[in-house]
Amino acid sequence: MDDITALILEDHHRFRVGFARLEDARSPQELEAIWAPLALHLDIHADAEEEILYPHLLKDAGGEDAEEETDDAIRDHNKIRDGIEEAGKHPVGSDAWWKGVWTARTENSEHLAEEEDEVLPDFRKHASRELRFELGALWLRFFAEHPQGKGLSFADKDPAKYIEENK
Ligand SMILES: [Fe+2]
Ligand SMILES: [Fe+2]
Repeated sequence: MDDITALILEDHHRFRVGFARLEDARSPQELEAIWAPLALHLDIHADAEEEILYPHLLKDAGGEDAEEETDDAIRDHNKIRDGIEEAGKHPVGSDAWWKGVWTARTENSEHLAEEEDEVLPDFRKHASRELRFELGALWLRFFAEHPQGKGLSFADKDPAKYIEENK
């Protein structure tokens, strides 16, 4: 039904909108209402890519830079996760909270550009249409199987170990 690269781009758009919305919030309650779902979505999205997209980039649907691109992606995902975790330790709206959010935002912006300019183009060039749609279905199922992130730890991953285990 849906190509995985289109579903990923849709999420990326929602992340940009979510971060921009934070600027319109006028109270900690409003910030929380925007941040909590955004942070959860960022975390689940990274796990979904690590579970569904990057193993195929490494195995059968990536170019010669697949390992380097995957290494960059896992490092970026770790930095985004760290920013979210940092924000979670502080009262919403405090300077320390904003610092964590800002880390997640800037790392995410840089990461989206790399995925959209390098990873997804390589994947589109090398993956069959069948695979793109098959992974799209798996992508939707992943979100259904982990409502509110249930069963996911959002722990950082070691890039070298991840590549070794998934290539
Ligand atoms: Fe992504
Ligand atoms: Fe990513």
